[in-house]
Amino acid sequence: MGPVNPPSFGMRRQLDLYSTEPAQPVLVERLRARAAEVLDPRAWGYLEGAAGSEDTARANLEAFRRWRIVPRVLRGVERPDLGIDLLGQRLRSPLLLAPIGVQGILHPHGELAVARAAAALGVPMVLSSASSSTLEDVAATLADQPRWFQLYWSRDREFAASLLGRAASAGYSAVVVTLDTMQLGWRPRDLDQAYLPFLEGEGLANYLSDPVFRAGLDRTPEADPAAARRRFSQLFADPSLTWDDLPFLREHTALPILLKGVLHPDDARRSIDCGADGVIVSNHGGRQIDGAIAALDALPDVVSAIGGRVPVLFDSGIRQAADVVKAIALGARAALVGRPYAYGLAVRGEDGVRDVLHNLLAELDLTLSLGGWRSPAEIGRDAVVRDPTASGSPG
Ligand code: FNR
Repeated sequence: MGPVNPPSFGMRRQLDLYSTEPAQPVLVERLRARAAEVLDPRAWGYLEGAAGSEDTARANLEAFRRWRIVPRVLRGVERPDLGIDLLGQRLRSPLLLAPIGVQGILHPHGELAVARAAAALGVPMVLSSASSSTLEDVAATLADQPRWFQLYWSRDREFAASLLGRAASAGYSAVVVTLDTMQLGWRPRDLDQAYLPFLEGEGLANYLSDPVFRAGLDRTPEADPAAARRRFSQLFADPSLTWDDLPFLREHTALPILLKGVLHPDDARRSIDCGADGVIVSNHGGRQIDGAIAALDALPDVVSAIGGRVPVLFDSGIRQAADVVKAIALGARAALVGRPYAYGLAVRGEDGVRDVLHNLLAELDLTLSLGGWRSPAEIGRDAVVRDPTASGSPG
């Protein structure tokens, strides 16, 4: 008889779940339904909504169904190591939390609850510029846990530079620049409910606390909140930006810069020419351009354009471990999980997010073990095939 080792991480979580009544559904689809029940309809619309017909949001999920995992057997993988190397850091797993703004509309503790859950599981948090708590408060909550900062590149350059400086001082170790949201997409759920959280003063913590932003106001945001909101709307982002502007960011931060929202292989190449340290294939969860290509369908061409020169991360449509395995097989180094953790936040706050992450990591651990991969780095292109029964070509 071989040695009887203690159960693996995935198995331990499974055993725990078998032996107790779960506090929330394990299946993300059921958790999503629970979030829809508990949230205020406007907050739910903001979280779940996407651009136009929401075709791209659906396509993001459907694209995963067109690939099938091809496991290997008898490789003796009892205890995979989920860790990866990324931008000089060793991460516990190939997962990061996607930047999701205005978490205060989902739960009173918002980003601070998410930070505590992320810290408990060692999953890096990518904090949105448009967070409900300041980046300093989130950093303090995360303590020594890994964190990146997502930048919405404001029209006010000096303010953008101020955010970059604050992020570096607060221990964020990379900057994610979101390029697909120079203005908000056309989102019917929000339009039908006449709702945009920012117009109600939500999600402005980093703006209202910023000395440069405040210096641009005639009166303090406390004295004249409406004027501060107006200034936010005017400065939020800058649709006139081009590739030639990117050196500005490099001049104002020594942190690695990842470009989020890259879908075209030529843009991927351009990212490299501009000195980006990584790209994130993403269509913002389908929230920006109705009818845009599913992020997973864009991944292979971006990966081949990048040619291994910098890491490619994947975002938009991750719901379960199989999706992570498929994205990695198609060339992603890591994956960003978005709406699923927000559902957990809405349903049970910190505990809800922690359970979502714990379950996803456990499922990933089991999937690697079952599929015969000792680590994410071992998941090669041969780990997936196109589903022969699927119609259309996933590219
Ligand atoms: C987002 N996303 C986002 N992205 C970003 O760069 N900055 C932000 O502030 C936000 N805010 C935000 C709010 C909400 C409610 C959602 C759902 C999404 C996009 C996010 O980072 C990610 O790209 C998507 O969530 C990926 O799609 P899925 O997997 O969540 O469907």
